[in-house]
Amino acid sequence: MRHLIDPTDLTVEEIDLLMNRALDIIAHPAQYAESCHGKKLATLFYEPSTRTRLSFTSAMMELGGQVLGFSDARSSSVSKGETVADTVRVVSCFADIIAMRHYKEGAPRVAAAYSRIPVINAGDGGHSHPTQTLTDLLTIRRELGHFDHLTIGLCGDLKYGRTVHSLIKAMNRYAGTRFVLISPKELRLPDYMKQELERSGQPVFTEVSTLEEAMPLVDVLYMTRVQQERFADPQEYERLKDSFILDEDKMALARPDMIVLHPLPRVNEITIGVDDDPRAAYFRQVENGKFVRMALIHTLLQWKREEAEQQQHFESFVLADDSPRCPNDRCITATEPVRHLAYRDKDGILRCHYCDHAIEQ
Ligand code: CP
Repeated sequence: MRHLIDPTDLTVEEIDLLMNRALDIIAHPAQYAESCHGKKLATLFYEPSTRTRLSFTSAMMELGGQVLGFSDARSSSVSKGETVADTVRVVSCFADIIAMRHYKEGAPRVAAAYSRIPVINAGDGGHSHPTQTLTDLLTIRRELGHFDHLTIGLCGDLKYGRTVHSLIKAMNRYAGTRFVLISPKELRLPDYMKQELERSGQPVFTEVSTLEEAMPLVDVLYMTRVQQERFADPQEYERLKDSFILDEDKMALARPDMIVLHPLPRVNEITIGVDDDPRAAYFRQVENGKFVRMALIHTLLQWKREEAEQQQHFESFVLADDSPRCPNDRCITATEPVRHLAYRDKDGILRCHYCDHAIEQ
């Protein structure tokens, strides 16, 4: 069964499929209005959210499905000490798909291991946020038309910013991607992410210390807030929170065809004067989040249905554990200790499941 825990759980081709499906949803919403009728999305949010939870909710409603869940873990049995593993086992009985946000890194991965239904990571600690990345990608696709040969400036909290980590992983798979990293030294991209970039073979990132240096270089400027909730020391947060502020003067240094993205919420890092600049795409980005989550829910449920059909098809092959042996000595069953499975073709002939050789005439 397919889950979405990390952006690289999807191949580049599957990302294309999701982008195209989201664009089709935008163009033909009525065709999708009942596509999840009778299905339920469980939103399990152990951490606050506005955009992600509401866009998942809105997405499922626009697909004709229903939503249940919690937005505050204190109102669930988690407050009594229930584990993630037990919670998803239980929720698997009530819903068809789960979107989980958790303050612990890796919690959605644990959920996927115990769930009987697809699990979507809606953000885990400072680690990963793959559906924000799908949102970012759809915005880049709609605004710029392509993913190749783009220079992406990433500014702010690159240490704890899970949206940054996921976007880097996703964009690093496209030809000619370059990253310009703009952060205080205390909030630089973690070493494991830099090593991943270096391993990928593209000499793709430079670190600069001012936004002014980065502005003329970038096709996409990805602003992020300093993640107050991840700081152990409140004074350290106060010292770093306003390190980089994008304003109209800095926008004047940028290319006319660049775009500014921000996963939001913003605090101080973009002045409201930038909002009216046509290159400020962050509120258009929010709406794309709903469309791409519609595409994702639709697709994960479709994949699950297809897998169940395939399984049913496979099980219909199993006549019995003592199915007759395949007489073909070139068949894998002649050398490997696999179960002997047979099926009847449309003419009623019994055939080997693996090589299609007739078992009886
Ligand atoms: N971008 C994002 O994840 O926003 P929320 O925290 O409001 O869901």
